[in-house]
Amino acid sequence: TRVEKAGYKHFMAKEIAEQPVVIADALKHYTTAEGTLRLPEGVDFTGVDRITMVACGTASYACHVAKYWFEQIAGLPAEIDVASEFRYREPPLSPASWALFVSQSGETADTLAALRYANGKVARVVSVVNVPTSSIARESDLALPILAGVEIGVASTKAFTCQLTVLALLALKAAHDRGRIDDVALAAHLDALRNLPGLMNHALSLSTPIAAIADDLAKAQDILFLGRGAMYPLALEGALKLKEISYIHAEGYASGELKHGPIALIDAAVPVIVMAPRDGLFDKTVSNMQEVMARHGKVLLISDAHGVAEAGAGAWKTLTLPDMPPVFAPILYAIPAQLLAYHTAIAKGTDVDQPRNLAKSVTVE
Ligand code: G6P
Repeated sequence: TRVEKAGYKHFMAKEIAEQPVVIADALKHYTTAEGTLRLPEGVDFTGVDRITMVACGTASYACHVAKYWFEQIAGLPAEIDVASEFRYREPPLSPASWALFVSQSGETADTLAALRYANGKVARVVSVVNVPTSSIARESDLALPILAGVEIGVASTKAFTCQLTVLALLALKAAHDRGRIDDVALAAHLDALRNLPGLMNHALSLSTPIAAIADDLAKAQDILFLGRGAMYPLALEGALKLKEISYIHAEGYASGELKHGPIALIDAAVPVIVMAPRDGLFDKTVSNMQEVMARHGKVLLISDAHGVAEAGAGAWKTLTLPDMPPVFAPILYAIPAQLLAYHTAIAKGTDVDQPRNLAKSVTVE
């Protein structure tokens, strides 16, 4: 079936806009209206001692976010690696562990090779894929489709948030299986996730103010993204998205690492994008932000209304997202990160859907 742009200027714009619908589809598929999970029978974390997640590119950042979830919600040790390192490092794997491979295409050569390495060494090889007929899906013991629909834009958007959604559900299942959360807590978490499509629509409505900010970002040579906790991988993803399609050099950093290097780059020409919902680490991130502002760095603070009211003064720009439980906020904050990259690329006039030198699916090493 031919996928059309359906009135959008680019596939990427269409795919960004589709997120509330595809996330709702994925949630409907894997949860019940009664507030329980509906995952395949094999998804049982009883006796599992560790989960190792492996992927490339944007999918690897989804794993990086999920590491926080598996550890914090489920108390399950979680490791992450990029497939090109994992496959040659040949790490020892516990026979009681799971290896989980995340891939939009299901055909990425390094991820497939990593899967083949893990096969036979772990209790279960699980994959989270967008293409259920793909090689990675076929060679897994268990494949969970993310139900994002066909993704054409080279820069992954809806696949990323659908990967995060399915990984969040897996982390909740692990937490429940391991007695970390009871039925009531599980239902409350699922309720929070079910609010996502509505909150994402709100985030999408910020497209116009984001486009105005992007007109300025387009003039920068370097842009830094900062985040803490599960928002740190979002900083990495925000930087990746921006460099992929606007060709502006961008780096994501854990906020606490600012003073171990990147602060040397800060001057009035370097925009610093701080992604910080008002969570338990908010004050620490704010103090990093102030260190940037003291050096005349241009801060864009992306937070909720409380966060912006508390810390927005002195920032170059602010973007206010709706409130949501901070634990799943990375799924929501992906949207402004994507829109910033998209509009910056538009302002620069680059080819948004087919950026130079990049391929949608890297099937050769
Ligand atoms: C390429 C794409 C990225 C993608 C990565 C992993 O680099 O341009 O958007 O994140 O491959 O692809 P996969 O299909 O395994 O998720």
